[in-house]
Amino acid sequence: MAEKLLIVEDEETLRESLERVLVREGYEVESAVSAETALKIVEGSSYDLIITDIILPGIDGIELLRKIRERSQDQVVIIITAYGSLETAVEALRAGAYDYVVKPIIHEEIKQIVKNALKQRALQIENTLLKKQIERQYDFGRIIGESSAMHKILAEVKKIADARSNVLLLGETGTGKELIARAVHFNSNRADKPFIPINCSAIPENLLESELFGHVRGAFTGAVASKKGLFEEANYGTVFLDEIGDLSMALQSKLLRALEDHEIRPVGGTQSIKVDIRFIFATNKDIDISVKEGRFREDLFYRINVIAIKLPPLRERKEDIKLLVRHFIQKYSNELGKTVNDIDEAALKYLTAYHWPGNIRELQNIIERAILISENGVIRVEHLPEGVKTVESFPCQTLADKLSIEDYTKAFIRKYQHEFNEQQLADMLGITRKSLWEKRKRWGINKG
Ligand SMILES: Nc1ncnc2c1ncn2[C@@H]1O[C@H](COP(=O)(O)OP(=O)(O)OP(=O)(O)O)[C@@H](O)[C@H]1O
Ligand SMILES: [Mg+2]
Repeated sequence: MAEKLLIVEDEETLRESLERVLVREGYEVESAVSAETALKIVEGSSYDLIITDIILPGIDGIELLRKIRERSQDQVVIIITAYGSLETAVEALRAGAYDYVVKPIIHEEIKQIVKNALKQRALQIENTLLKKQIERQYDFGRIIGESSAMHKILAEVKKIADARSNVLLLGETGTGKELIARAVHFNSNRADKPFIPINCSAIPENLLESELFGHVRGAFTGAVASKKGLFEEANYGTVFLDEIGDLSMALQSKLLRALEDHEIRPVGGTQSIKVDIRFIFATNKDIDISVKEGRFREDLFYRINVIAIKLPPLRERKEDIKLLVRHFIQKYSNELGKTVNDIDEAALKYLTAYHWPGNIRELQNIIERAILISENGVIRVEHLPEGVKTVESFPCQTLADKLSIEDYTKAFIRKYQHEFNEQQLADMLGITRKSLWEKRKRWGINKG
């Protein structure tokens, strides 16, 4: 099939001679006499290559180039400049033009440039396809699980990947929400566009709005230049908003607007920017409760809860434990350069019986640690941390009976801070990481 070219040129003689030369080369050529018409044309169909003059009656060629590249990062554009205006040529290249030709145009030269540009474009497309294939394989290969629950989830991921609908991932800490979010993205038709994970509770509240939506220059003290927000960076791709339950009321309403109108407005800005984003949300909290208690907007909840996928805790799919153990043994013995390739029966029994509050992440950490300290190529009971060997229904149960909530929390933090990371500790206590940090500071509990 012939490649499709669009020429944007207001001078009739030049336009017609370019058309003639390129049609003779076998391309399908269309033209526009102004940037405005060109923009309308590209709205409705796609071109392998666009050639535009810089000096045009209305919007100039550089602005046209910018607008086109905003819509589609991959669009190849060649610029025609007047003799002696090297500066504009440089500006065009900076704005993303593939190359430029100088007037008067030599036919052999433009033929060659067009040919090169199209060749490069073909290569680029091939690369992205290849990358996509690798990522697809890679990402499903990394998700381990033979339980029927996991099979169901993976089938669901494949089914919904290409839809634009928002996805809500629910599940305790360490159950694989981020892994599934990536799988959704890399199996979607957005796979070659950005995947941007954002942890709402890790960014301080006062910075989050400008991180997400961007800001204009002078929007607040210190905003010396305007800055693109993460939503804009993620255009045409996927945003993974983690810990959505921690979003403040103010940001909840701003997010709702973005979801409804597909538009974002930078902090301090007066103009909205159209964006095309697929949103995936995650939370390990009970969002229903937050809605009932008025901490989470009900209308926003309906918006984000279009496709909900619940990841079961590891203790509810014990049949996957053995598989995961084998997987992590292989992974970490390779990474750590140790030749551990087995685990003995007794150790495996403990791992199967344990209640896994930190889920797969906790299992992964425990195997990594065991591999580090094991000898003779086998993981044995003595390589497992004490906590795993005392199987309780809930850690610290005995403590809870005798202490006030505050003392219990203190004891809990002291007891488990070396075994679990901040997030896991906070989750087990049902508080945010920030609040855990504040409590530690107040009570003077440090790790060291
Ligand atoms: N099914 C699985 N197969 C292999 N590895 C997994 C699986 N599920 C999770 N993991 C691994 O466990 C770790 C934790 O997973 P992930 O970060 O996706 O959890 P999460 O649900 O987002 O946790 P949190 O709520 O704490 O953010 C990651 O290193 C991930 O690669
Ligand atoms: Mg996560």
